[in-house]
Amino acid sequence: MTKTKEKQLHLGVLLYGCGHHQAAWLMPNSSVEHIGEISYYQSLAQVAEKGYFDAVFFADNQSFPAKNASDMPAFWFDPVVNLTAISQVTNHVGLVATISSTFSNPFTASRQLLSLDHITKGRVGWNLVTSMTDFEALNHSMEELPPRDKRYEKADEFAALMNKLFLSWHSNAFLHQREERKLINPSNIQPFHHDGTYFKVHGPSTTPKSPQGKPVSMQAGASKQGIALAAKYADAVYSVSWNLKQAKNFRKKLDEQVKQSEDSSRHIKVFPGLVTYVGHTREEALAKKAALDEQLPIETALKQLSFFIQQDCSNWEIDQEVPPLPPVEEFTGPVGRYETILEIIHDTQPTVRELLGYLSAGGGHHTLIGTPEEIVDQMEVWFEAGVADGFNLMPPTLPGSLEDFVELIVPEMQKRGIFRKSYEGHTFREHLGLTK
Ligand SMILES: Cc1cc2nc3c(=O)[nH]c(=O)nc-3n(C[C@H](O)[C@H](O)[C@H](O)COP(=O)(O)O)c2cc1C
Repeated sequence: MTKTKEKQLHLGVLLYGCGHHQAAWLMPNSSVEHIGEISYYQSLAQVAEKGYFDAVFFADNQSFPAKNASDMPAFWFDPVVNLTAISQVTNHVGLVATISSTFSNPFTASRQLLSLDHITKGRVGWNLVTSMTDFEALNHSMEELPPRDKRYEKADEFAALMNKLFLSWHSNAFLHQREERKLINPSNIQPFHHDGTYFKVHGPSTTPKSPQGKPVSMQAGASKQGIALAAKYADAVYSVSWNLKQAKNFRKKLDEQVKQSEDSSRHIKVFPGLVTYVGHTREEALAKKAALDEQLPIETALKQLSFFIQQDCSNWEIDQEVPPLPPVEEFTGPVGRYETILEIIHDTQPTVRELLGYLSAGGGHHTLIGTPEEIVDQMEVWFEAGVADGFNLMPPTLPGSLEDFVELIVPEMQKRGIFRKSYEGHTFREHLGLTK
């Protein structure tokens, strides 16, 4: 009987439309007809819970440009509303919603998260983002997205304020003593008078502290400002690392920032994105990827690449080598993805078509193809190297790739004693082993 190792891996899954591969919806058995049905997302979360995942996670983009016939309405449901419905058909799996500090009202956002955290007795997390596109800004009385410095300055105040609202009063101040005619103990429910640059909030919240203290705070920045914010507020971060070298670099940058933060002893958990194609044989796994890549809508893929590298590459020769790109120091767009693309080019000297294939699912996250043993071998390398406390699974197809992961990879991880065989605690914090 394999001994359960002290350190356990954690698993999250980013639920997105029909899957993260751009051609996923084109497959004959895809779920495209169901992406507007809550039962679809409820059943995906039940698959993740069957695999003892720590959490299901919804990203968010608050716009739908809908310019091209192939544009996916991936954000059909608001993340918090979607997770509330999911919470009613699951019992353990954590529920992570993306919240934009650039567009959200902190009083409303904290109240929605706290409410769901009480409803689920402590299963909630939130992914703080500063948002990425001008399209979203146009939906929020802005002409364009504020510059990154301003977005992260506002995000810092937003995160501090969310914590004040999460912790503004404890439910033991709710007395409901009929004889004494006391409903509450007002002295324990005080306003905090937040008077900042971006927000003025009197407080307290309408909702007391949550059963797990406060929702788990996730973050996904990659720039200096993004990592500094994570070092100050995040319990865990999502990252984009194509290879071990990039993952080590990210872990190092994050740890250096934590050392400079108030609580320099904190260990922030890192969840690199992970794309898996698994089969009973390597050939079977490669065939699953090839079947999707063959359907890749080149025009859409080139458009996404143009966004990632902030230059129009729609007329690039598809079977020629990728033209030289400027170094990251000269790049003004979202840093994480760009660094990853430069790593892929450095590692594989790909043709444009091959690069699009690597970016086709998730846009450059670590990609593993093979048998369960081969894939878990690589997951253990990152785990043992201390660059991954868990992985943020980005299934190329949904539900297919998630079901494959739960059926083939989770048992291999359990066999090696690096993943739970049952949920011990109830709260998301307990799943992650977060003591405070
Ligand atoms: C796994 C993952 C999920 C993300 N989810 C979102 C999202 O839902 N909405 C969003 O606007 N940005 C999202 N981002 C983008 C980040 O918040 C961030 O803007 C990006 O990583 C670039 O980092 P920077 O902001 O520090 O430049 C995500 C990034 C990663 C790696």
